[in-house]
Amino acid sequence: MDSRRFIRDDIQDLSSYVSVKPLEVLATEIGVPVDELVKLDANENPYGTTLVVREAAASVPLHIYPDPAQGRLRSDIAAYLGVGPEQVVAGTGSDELLDLILRLTLPTATATATPTFGMYSFLSGIAGIRHVEVPRNSTFDLDLVGLRNAVGSGAGVVFVASPNNPTGNAATLDEIEELCGLDALIVVDEAYAEFAGTSAIPLLERYENLIVMRTFSKWAGLAGLRVGYAVAHPDLVEPMLAIKQPYNVNVAADAAARAALAHRDELLATVRTIVVERDRLSHEVGTLGWLVPYPSDANFVLFDVEKADASAIAASLRERGVLVRHYDRADLSNKLRISAGRPQDTDRLVKAFKEVGPK
Ligand SMILES: Cc1ncc(COP(=O)(O)O)c(C=O)c1O
Repeated sequence: MDSRRFIRDDIQDLSSYVSVKPLEVLATEIGVPVDELVKLDANENPYGTTLVVREAAASVPLHIYPDPAQGRLRSDIAAYLGVGPEQVVAGTGSDELLDLILRLTLPTATATATPTFGMYSFLSGIAGIRHVEVPRNSTFDLDLVGLRNAVGSGAGVVFVASPNNPTGNAATLDEIEELCGLDALIVVDEAYAEFAGTSAIPLLERYENLIVMRTFSKWAGLAGLRVGYAVAHPDLVEPMLAIKQPYNVNVAADAAARAALAHRDELLATVRTIVVERDRLSHEVGTLGWLVPYPSDANFVLFDVEKADASAIAASLRERGVLVRHYDRADLSNKLRISAGRPQDTDRLVKAFKEVGPK
């Protein structure tokens, strides 16, 4: 029997999401111990989370289901942002909530400003929704006219990452306001907001079609526990709460996220350290003369590679245990995206670049 015939035809044509491999797998493949890897390929927090957060996650009873209403977590997030708990819904990473928004709305089409985070096109494809890509300009700013036309042609949900991954630049509040004037749900994905220091949250008071996405993955160092959230008008949050998996945020993740908020000073100090290191990364790598950084508001930097092949450079760095993300597509040709690490990570990276780069 051919069991594949039960599967939707269009799923067979979908390209899968490019995700990173686990540390142990990478270490085995490359042949270096895990603790010698310099992992700058997934925009993770190189310092991890704090002891008090790890203790909070470890101390909850694991045999009891989580609170489906996410009562304490939503209140704590709301207090952090200065909004009401009825405006917040949490998920298994913000990725889960992006998917939930699509299942809630099932628009004729979605739109996004490319190059950007691949999850928007991936999830639209899985949901069988047409996805419109509106290219950014040469400095990766938004094409507002193009996005307006996409909405005119049926896009009911527009995803804009700000700061954008992998380009690093944030949209201005004026641009987001202009988008909010369109007849569509505007999803502003602020996974890197704590590094940027700007946010569209204040616009929520005025725009009922705005959804702001946030996550604990980056600033709080909790990517492995998977906690993200959406902030929006209660009329949008209520149905999201109603259709989400009841126990989507597990008890350890819930406790860790609340501890991160309660003890955020230490984590936000680390965010400032990472921002300083991001700027040093741009400067040190830019000084090599064949890698040109784009300005970044996030915890990573995109570089143009000149006089060398970005994929060959990434492969040579990998042999030296230094992991970066390389791109070679029409809208991101010959580029590397490098996450900000600790000072010793930048030093290892720069040393490796000197060994493998054009002489
Ligand atoms: C723009 C953007 N949104 C969302 C995410 C994923 O967030 P989470 O870990 O909360 O699913 C990422 C992760 O790289 C990202 O770059």
